[in-house]
Amino acid sequence: MKKTVFILFLILLGMAGCIPEHGPTYQATPYDLSQPSYFPTKNNIPADNPMTEEGVALGRKLFYDSRLSGRDGTDGIRSCSSCHHQENSFEYGAPTNTHHAMLPLINLAWNRTGLGWNGSVATLEDMVLAAVTSPVEINADTNQVVKYLQKTDDYPELFEKAFGNREITFVNVEKAIAQFVRSLVSADSKFDRYLLGEEDLTEDEMAGYELFCTEEGADCFHCHGGGGLALMTTNLFYNNGLDDEFNDPEDRAAVTGSHWDRGAYKAPTLRNIAVSAPYMHDGRFTTLDEVINFYSEGVKDSENINPLMHHVMDGGVQLTDLEKAQLKAFLNTLTDETFLNNPEYSRP
Ligand code: HEC
Ligand code: HEC
Repeated sequence: MKKTVFILFLILLGMAGCIPEHGPTYQATPYDLSQPSYFPTKNNIPADNPMTEEGVALGRKLFYDSRLSGRDGTDGIRSCSSCHHQENSFEYGAPTNTHHAMLPLINLAWNRTGLGWNGSVATLEDMVLAAVTSPVEINADTNQVVKYLQKTDDYPELFEKAFGNREITFVNVEKAIAQFVRSLVSADSKFDRYLLGEEDLTEDEMAGYELFCTEEGADCFHCHGGGGLALMTTNLFYNNGLDDEFNDPEDRAAVTGSHWDRGAYKAPTLRNIAVSAPYMHDGRFTTLDEVINFYSEGVKDSENINPLMHHVMDGGVQLTDLEKAQLKAFLNTLTDETFLNNPEYSRP
């Protein structure tokens, strides 16, 4: 009698799918995305790709693995890290062979408006696919990448630990790299420590902060002050008056189809801005002084300029030399040495 009850119990369990079929069950450890109190509470971590320790570690290895590149899987010359250098805030000192300059990989777990200068790539997972297959980026074939990874000694086990499956799929490659990129959090600049009440700004830095945040001052905060100054960008798209003629087929208008978005691009984060030259979508400025001079007296009027460029009629915000130096001193407080040297982000 007892035995029948037990067998019945086993059958019921089996029907409910509770008996593990074989092998060890897959149990990845949830990843704790450190999130300072003043960061936006909403992030963009998709429900079908929760971050795990194992997923982030795998993504990091893939991010730095140059054996991914080449259409026959053997070129071995390019990885994400060939262009995205940690010491430059995951940008690169020089313009790349794509016609657009680079964007930093910082705090993208909070970006909810699309990726790239024009926002055409919806998610980080999609960006991995785009970067791996683009002829001017990694230039690989997704099937070849999967075949190569499957043949290695170490990857099948790492995929099993992260996703519960030794059979590698490109979807899981996308998920892992996206998890690693979401783990790249910058929140320990001098300015962060100031916000937390841990460190004071100098008089000049304080004056620059004031200029940054006031309309009569340098008037920067509307576009670069998103997330309560935590992200240093709204992640939105604006025409900031660099030009008065627009012929780039990949500006924001390429995404929206609207004539009014000609010459509009994402306002990049200003975190680590001192180490991520060149500046603007086409890398036209090589120093922060040039950028500040542009906003001060080089702004060009056009019917497309964003209304938040309040001082366009004066050609810019018209800063004195002292104010320019103060604004630059403030921008320099956004450099986050902890991020730039974080051993968890470096080549594994
Ligand atoms: C050949 C250089 C190169 C390689 C290799 C490369 N990237 Fe990029 N990446 C760029 C450039 C240039 C941009 C700016 C693109 C644009 O919007 O036109 C960019 C933009 C991005 C962005 C958007 C950031 C933002 O704020 O919108 C992400 C994310 C990204 N890359 C991730 C990756 C990943 C992951 C890999 C590896 C799978 C990779 N990249 C490989 C050059 C490269
Ligand atoms: C109307 C919105 C707006 C305002 C106001 C604004 N910016 Fe920008 N900023 C942008 C946009 C958009 C870009 C990218 C433009 C491009 O590449 O064509 C940009 C780019 C930059 C860059 C280069 C970023 C990079 O990674 O290449 C810096 C630095 C910068 N702005 C600093 C400032 C400062 C300092 C102020 C105040 C004096 C300011 N911005 C005011 C929208 C704005």
